[in-house]
Amino acid sequence: MKNNSKRFLLTYMFTIFLLGLSLSSYLIFRFRNISILGAVLFGILIFAADNFSVPLPKTGFVSVNFGISLASLILFGPSTAIIVTFVSSISLRDIFKKEPYYKHLFNTAQYLVSICCASWVFEIMFSRELNNAFTPKHIGIIFLVAIIFFFVNTFLTALVISISQNIKILNVWIFNFAWLLPFHFFLVVMAIAISFLYKAYGPFTLLLTLMPLVIAQYTYMLRTNERKALLNSIMHIVKIVEAKDVYTAGHSVRVAEYSEKIARKLKLNEYDIEILKNIANLHDIGKIQVDLSILNKTEKLTREDWSEIKKHPIVGFEIVKEITFLKDNADAILYHHERYDGSGYPFGIKDERIPLFAKIVSVADSYDAMTTDRPYRKALNIYEAIDELKRNIDKQFDGNVCSKMLEILSEELNAAQNRE
Ligand SMILES: [Fe+2]
Repeated sequence: MKNNSKRFLLTYMFTIFLLGLSLSSYLIFRFRNISILGAVLFGILIFAADNFSVPLPKTGFVSVNFGISLASLILFGPSTAIIVTFVSSISLRDIFKKEPYYKHLFNTAQYLVSICCASWVFEIMFSRELNNAFTPKHIGIIFLVAIIFFFVNTFLTALVISISQNIKILNVWIFNFAWLLPFHFFLVVMAIAISFLYKAYGPFTLLLTLMPLVIAQYTYMLRTNERKALLNSIMHIVKIVEAKDVYTAGHSVRVAEYSEKIARKLKLNEYDIEILKNIANLHDIGKIQVDLSILNKTEKLTREDWSEIKKHPIVGFEIVKEITFLKDNADAILYHHERYDGSGYPFGIKDERIPLFAKIVSVADSYDAMTTDRPYRKALNIYEAIDELKRNIDKQFDGNVCSKMLEILSEELNAAQNRE
């Protein structure tokens, strides 16, 4: 990270810290009524819940904390909700992770800012003197403050990721947070149920309402772990395929890296980039079915050998279309050897019929193949490879995609010259 953006990031974190501190103190002072029993019970609950939260795709955590904070807000008001939310920031995991103190402070502060904004609106609109707190109007208010909390909370966090990783805030938000919205609404329903039962039958009902919260959290943990485990096995398979072909060690990883760089130049969103990286890693997985003697042949390949090799996009497609979260983009593997002018294989389709992901993988794949030694020829140097890419614009490659690859290569050359 550049010095300027680091300074900006620290200033931003410090501002949020001050804002969290002043908003919480002001609201506690303004609304006073703290329920000691509520703070203790919900404090214990949120402390327990926080230590079972689930890692998000890139950073941050999803947990049922908000459901508990919201329930304490409905039952006891802003002061108690702020104290309960503060307790949720005392995380054992963070202490053991030994992360920098300013990260802890920022996390605590951004939660406090979010709950303060939500609490303030809630207390202005919600009439506590009513016997039945769960009228349609009140339920509407609860959902409204839940939306306020969600947007303030995810925006403050997305901004940190956006500054530190130099990624557009909207991309960060879509990839990291948008998918949490249904879960967030589920937590609102849980919070309404918790507060309704607590009000009607007393504190012991917390034991009953805790179970669905734990189950909800566990389900999300399973989903995240399942995807992680699947991706690990995929990478093992890629290594097996590459071990068969001694000339292509590390090829898939490099193709994935270049594909990601091209995708960033094309301004694709983070979710698509993640899918594309997986597709690029798997683009040659169909080679698992090609005979070892063909893959490692040092003499000229026969027509039969080629017809065997040309099956690998179809075999790869058949494998990858079985992976749930990649199946919609598996055709990029099927078409990664198609050429813009229609002279590629297996089908000879041309220009706009070739999907964007296939065009990206094709350029990244060809560049890496050109710049590594193969049994039948020596590697080209970067200048020769650039000439080769330029010569093939609108023949083998899509002009737009190829121009992004050329930009990346010229940046790499500049960076290398600056280092010398
Ligand atoms: Fe291939």
